[in-house]
Amino acid sequence: MTHLHQHKSAQYLQKELPVRIAKRVVAFRSLPFIVGCNPIILGVHELYIRAFNILNNFAPITSRQDEINYSRKLGELLDDHKDVVTQLAAGFRECRRHIENEELVARFLDKTLTSRLGIRMLAQHHLALRENKPNYVGIINVAMKLKEVIERSCQFVTRIASHKYGRVPQLKLSGHVNAVFPYIELPLDYILPEILKNAVRATIENHSEYEVIQLPPIHITIASNDIDFIIRISDRGGGIPHHLKVRASDYNFTTANHSSDFGAEQQEGVFSNMMEAVNPNPAGGPMYGFGFGLPTSRAYAEYMGGSLEIQTMQGIGTDVYLRMKHINSSGASFRI
Ligand SMILES: Nc1ncnc2c1ncn2[C@@H]1O[C@H](COP(=O)(O)OP(=O)(O)O)[C@@H](O)[C@H]1O
Ligand SMILES: [Mg+2]
Repeated sequence: MTHLHQHKSAQYLQKELPVRIAKRVVAFRSLPFIVGCNPIILGVHELYIRAFNILNNFAPITSRQDEINYSRKLGELLDDHKDVVTQLAAGFRECRRHIENEELVARFLDKTLTSRLGIRMLAQHHLALRENKPNYVGIINVAMKLKEVIERSCQFVTRIASHKYGRVPQLKLSGHVNAVFPYIELPLDYILPEILKNAVRATIENHSEYEVIQLPPIHITIASNDIDFIIRISDRGGGIPHHLKVRASDYNFTTANHSSDFGAEQQEGVFSNMMEAVNPNPAGGPMYGFGFGLPTSRAYAEYMGGSLEIQTMQGIGTDVYLRMKHINSSGASFRI
């Protein structure tokens, strides 16, 4: 990566980011008044206004030093905005009862969250290009081992689940475990932990600690073909009851309140979130409780040209299919 390229890349962002951020500010302004007044949501709104001002007022990048300063600022902003998903989850949970048009809020969140993912990918791509990491072109891992990405999420979820429950089902990987292809880890590092946390929680809550039988394992099967790659996460956690199935992918829908330790989980949510600041793991948030895992994962998958499908066998368990398009030579599988 030459300085000239870095320079061009920074100049591109300098044009592109303020436009994208301004659109988000407009969307915050168009929220129903009572929702927009929620202190947490207002806090995020203000973060966006601040980011807009900082980036829009940045003097045109002409020298190498300008580019360095711009990139540093970008890094700081990424960090300032890292908890936005959890903040929005908490904010909308607080004002849920005031929301009349849930469809409108769902569209706002789909758009805000996917646009944020796109902005972060662009910014991180620029910063990563400067690093010149072997095997990477920016945020694209040119030879991504899908197995390793999945195992990283498994380890993360195993760690938080064993901390919370003291036991964790086995996570077994099979299928095209040797698949290697170019891809971006960032969205997978968000989606996979969310799906795995759900599978682990269901498995544990459906098998009481007094049962002598071992927890049934969670099977993760991967397939990779010319067009896409598919990850199926299959649990024996009892399935999603018929009457909840349609709502499971709604924002802020959770069965956390049915669980005895909801209060504890809520508090833990705030704390583990603060802890996440020290912990560099990309997948933040608590084990469950905000009802954001499924809707956000679906929105991210679709944004990347893929899909997230849930098949559930009430009384037995659930299969989640994550399909993602390959980045292929003909391009145009998705646009960031
Ligand atoms: N694998 C699963 N088995 C059973 N229920 C599930 C599974 N995945 C999701 N659910 C249900 O869908 C709800 C929403 O999931 P999610 O959006 O991840 O939010 P959260 O995990 O914070 O509750 C969960 O509370 C749970 O009731
Ligand atoms: Mg979840």
